[in-house]
This record gives sequence, structure tokens and C-alpha cells, in this order.
Amino acid sequence: MMSVLKINGGKRLSGEVSVHGAKNSALPVLAATLAAGGKCEIHNCPRLSDVEAAGAILSYLGCRTGWSDGVFSVDSSDVSRCEIPDELMREMRSSIAFLGAMLTRCECVKLSMPGGCELGPRPIDLHIDALGRMGARVEERDGCIIFRRGGRLRGCRVPLSFPSVGATENIMTAASTAKGTTVITNAAREPEISDLADFLNSCGARIGGAGGSTVVIEGVERLHGCIHSVIPDRIEAATYMAAAAITGGSVLLKNVIAEHVMPVVPSFEEMGCVISFCGSDIKIEAPQRLHAVRYIRTMPYPGFPTDAQAIVMACTCRADGSSVFAETIFDSRFRHTAELARMGARIKTDGRIAVVEGVSRLCGAPVAATDLRGAAALVTAGLAAEGTTTVSQLRHLDRGYQDIETALAGLGADIKRTDG
Ligand code: EPZ
Repeated sequence: MMSVLKINGGKRLSGEVSVHGAKNSALPVLAATLAAGGKCEIHNCPRLSDVEAAGAILSYLGCRTGWSDGVFSVDSSDVSRCEIPDELMREMRSSIAFLGAMLTRCECVKLSMPGGCELGPRPIDLHIDALGRMGARVEERDGCIIFRRGGRLRGCRVPLSFPSVGATENIMTAASTAKGTTVITNAAREPEISDLADFLNSCGARIGGAGGSTVVIEGVERLHGCIHSVIPDRIEAATYMAAAAITGGSVLLKNVIAEHVMPVVPSFEEMGCVISFCGSDIKIEAPQRLHAVRYIRTMPYPGFPTDAQAIVMACTCRADGSSVFAETIFDSRFRHTAELARMGARIKTDGRIAVVEGVSRLCGAPVAATDLRGAAALVTAGLAAEGTTTVSQLRHLDRGYQDIETALAGLGADIKRTDG
């Protein structure tokens, strides 16, 4: 029996909530533990199905992994395999994140082609081009992609045509033990890139400029294990902010890095929320009814994050006025709109543009999650809808949120996970 979330909406959220470690930092860091060739302890690692999937891949490759007292340990001293089979690749779209690290340990790496996902095709041409420049020869055969290192990878200039997060991460990791220096230009600037660089530097790498558009990696002979703590999850923080906003609530978020959340603050302020910062805490106080947001365009960091698009859109469904969203990062990231419409939302989409006409009330309904952030959007809308909302297909939600229903219930929401 598949579990569902049952939400009786209309409760104003208030209180404190602590943010977990970032999924999109934990995953590339876990992949990079493969490059360490020793024992790593990853603190503040969130307990998510995507993290379990990454652990399964690490174990399959020969690492010893395990949890103890909330710390995820990986010992990658012995790598016994250099391929990731289809069933493990399909478990987690971002398993391409293992490529760079595997190339630091294996002469030949074989992956099954990462399929698309709910957000549309997920090409890896930037990864292939970059690693090709560093000397890896690439062959595609029978639905697999094979990278042959041909001796040690060599440092070089890698200009990215798009600041891809995953490609930047793969290049940084592969270049950490390449011969010579690698310079990535037009690199992704997301905070998770800086966190990965911090992890790799703790393992003995020499990476400078991470978080900016030009990252310089001076290859070293080998890396070693380390202890690292994952940065807080800025998208989980935005999700709790949306929950407070849509319910007219007042919530204090703890363990947040304000700078990382800054890209979404103007949108919440335009909706009428008052946001204040104190150290690693963020306070959000929402009006009874939100105003619309004139125009939100998703952009690479430090622009408005694509991962917050669905959850902020949920807030605008019951706002006073119309809001326009332009999704510039992914091909199809509006799949949550059909489910929101079942709750009475009025949304028109045309390609990468969505127009939300705010309505005065949303009605609870049975809805099905379509992807990770779309699932969070349905939960957000359910918190403010009149009546009961039942959210199914929770596997999407569990990829990126640890115990979200516990956190929301702690803020006063009437939400529980039950068998469908
Ligand atoms: C990371 O995905 C995140 N995932 C995504 O979060 C996030 O939405 C995305 O970055 C953008 O911020 C993880 O970190 C695990 P990209 P990634 O490479 O690395 C195109 C979530 O909800 N592209 O920056 O795959 C690609 O198709 C997830 O937590 C190419 O064309 O993102 C997309 O349109 C979803 N060729 C755009 O670039 C390539 O070789 C951004 O992709 C690579 C990417």
C-alpha cells in the first residue's frame, strides 16, 4: 500500500523549524568521496532516498559505507568496480555525479546513459565535452557510455557554454588529481559548488575560485579522507518559507545560511512577507493574504533558483492578482500545474511561461506528485486549501525532504502520513 500525506488545510503556521543538510550538496560530496581513496565522515548529511541511492552506488563500487550517530561514513580505500549498472543509474538521475570521481580511480568507466526524468531530457553533453578536453575518450554503445582515461587526465581550460551545476562538479572532481591545472570558465556559482570544493580541499585538493565563474584546480598526485559537514539546504528553507507564507504564518527557520536563501527573498517580500535575519536564523511573517508576484524568471545562482519555482508558484495560486513565471533552466518544469488546478488554482502555461491568476480560495483534493519540487508545491497548497488534500506518489517528495510532515506538524499544520 503506498503511503500518502493527508493535509487538513487552513492552519496558520507558527514556531521554529531547523533546516537539514542540503541534498544537492550531499550528493556530489558523497560521489566525490570515491576520489578520496580513504575514510570520509560526512556530517549534517540528510536522510533521503537519493542519499540512500548514492550509498548503494558507493557500496556497489566497493566502498564501505554506513550511518552512525547521524554521520554518513564512506571508506573508498578499495574500489572494485568501475561501472554503474542501469538499475542503479535509474534510481537517481544525478548519478552522473559519480563520473568525475570514478575517473580519478578507474582507467575505464562505464555508465548506462542517464535517462530523462520528470523535468525533461537531462543531457550530459557538457560533461562529455569537458572530460574529452581533459583526455578521456568517450564511446556510446548499447545504451551505455564508456569513458577511457588513457593514462592520467590532463588539466586544461574548460569553457562551459552553460553554467551547469553537475558539469562543474564533475570537472572539479576529475581535475583534482589530473596532471596540471584546469581552469573552468562560466562555472556554476551555486553554494553547493563551493561546498564540494571545500570537501575536496579538505581531501588535499587545490581548488580556488569556487562560487565564482572561474574555478582553478591544480591537480595533485592523490587525495585522502577527511571530515566534512554539509551546508544547510537553501531549497528546504525556501519550502518552509512558502509554507509560512501561504498560511499567513510567522516562522523562525534555524541553521540557515542567509546569503544562500537571498535569491528568493525579494519574491516573498513582493508577496507581502516581512523577512528578517539574525545570524543563522531567518524569520518570515506573512500577511493574511499574499500579493501576486509580477514576474519570476528562474536563473542560475545567484538568480531565482529553478528548484524554488514550483513552491513559490503554489503560494501565488491564492494571492491577490496575477503572477508570471518564466522557467529558463529546464524544459518541462510545470507538471505540478495540472495538479494544482485540481485544487482550484488558475494557471495557464505556454512553453516555459506560466501565468497564475490568484484565486481567493483553494479546495482540498486528491493530488499526485509528479516530481520532487512539484510534490512540495502540492503540500504547500494543501496547507492553505479548505478541506482535505491527499498527496500521493510520495517517492518524489522523499527524494529531497527528510520528515517534512513532522516539521510542518511541529509548526501547527494538520498533516500526517498514512497508508493510502
Ligand atoms: C542540479 O541539477 C540540481 N541537482 C537540480 O536540483 C537543480 O535544479 C539544477 O542543478 C539547477 O540548479 C543536483 O544538484 C543533484 P544543470 P543538474 O547541469 O546538475 C542543461 C532538485 O530539485 N544541461 O545545471 O542536472 C540541463 O538540461 C534538482 O533538487 C545540458 O544541456 O543541473 C538543464 O536544462 C532538480 N547539458 C540545465 O542545463 C549538460 O551536459 C541545468 O542543468 C548538463 C546540463
